[in-house]
Amino acid sequence: MSAFTVTRSRFLKTAVGFLAGLPFASRLRAGLPAPPVAGSRTRSVVVASANGLTAIERVYQLLANNSDTLEAVVAGVNMVEDDPEDMSVGYGGLPNEQGVVELDAAVMHGPSHKAGAVAALRNIKNPSSVAKLVMETTDHVLLVGEGALQFARAHGFKEQDLLTEKARKTWLEWKQNLSPKDDWLAPPQEDEKVGAAELFNRSTGTIHCAALNNRGEISCVTTTSGLEFKIPGRVGDSPIIGAGLYVDNDVGSCGSTGRGEANLQNLCSFHAVELMRGGRSPKDAGLEVLRQVVSHTREDRLLDKKGRPDFGLKFYLLGRNGSYAGVSMWGPAKFAVADEKGARLEECAFLYAKED
Ligand code: GLY
Repeated sequence: MSAFTVTRSRFLKTAVGFLAGLPFASRLRAGLPAPPVAGSRTRSVVVASANGLTAIERVYQLLANNSDTLEAVVAGVNMVEDDPEDMSVGYGGLPNEQGVVELDAAVMHGPSHKAGAVAALRNIKNPSSVAKLVMETTDHVLLVGEGALQFARAHGFKEQDLLTEKARKTWLEWKQNLSPKDDWLAPPQEDEKVGAAELFNRSTGTIHCAALNNRGEISCVTTTSGLEFKIPGRVGDSPIIGAGLYVDNDVGSCGSTGRGEANLQNLCSFHAVELMRGGRSPKDAGLEVLRQVVSHTREDRLLDKKGRPDFGLKFYLLGRNGSYAGVSMWGPAKFAVADEKGARLEECAFLYAKED
């Protein structure tokens, strides 16, 4: 071998060595993960909203099989998006006021600090997978409405009617009971009726899931059918980076479920991660952002008789060192976690106790 001949394996070793030695900013520009810090191996932890209990078992398994953290969390929430029984996400999610299901989702990949999202997407049951493709195959972060649907079609996603019979009947009952001043008569049976007093506290069910692997890499996803019976085109917090979710791979992640409008006005997930960067534990950071939401909630229509926010909001926080918490405006409430001890529900910390 001449002095100028470089074998393929030696070239590869040299290239890998060079890339590993790049400064952090250059690695990010090259789309490479943050360099492993000596001795920084972490345990794997997955956190999710309570409706993600089954999903996180799958996510944890995938991490054990060396899956990328984003691949794992999206595969996990796909299970909930596919489930017609979960009426807050994907297929079977509750529709907008016109009876059409519109989905929002976002993903964020900690190692590359890249994100993708879709909003007001119709007819595609896995918006989280479409959001992941926005991140991976475009120079954009957020696609909405018809543009998001065209993008999904281009990638071969199948279109289908996402309104199940159960969701249609729930929507129709809501419409028939909406107002005595319209022409829709309330159905005769009184059971399971949506009373006018309950209309304000409409469901904003959603699933958030975040995963940390044993190399210290974190990714997360939030996916939802949004506020039930919303005005068509309404976009909640879930697909908004910094609100519905945020991750900084050096610090940790945060994601949310609950009243999206309150989160959008406070960019809580970004704020919580910044508080964790400043040294707060996941629980303290989560409670602090909830207190800020309280102090910024000033309209009477959003407050109960004691001046407390009359809506639900929860955050799921995961630190790069494997610490985690679920926090809720109202308790008791639960969130899901999986680690070396298995998958389970744990109690959220909360600001206010529900009074029966
Ligand atoms: N947090 C879900 C939504 O408000 O759409």
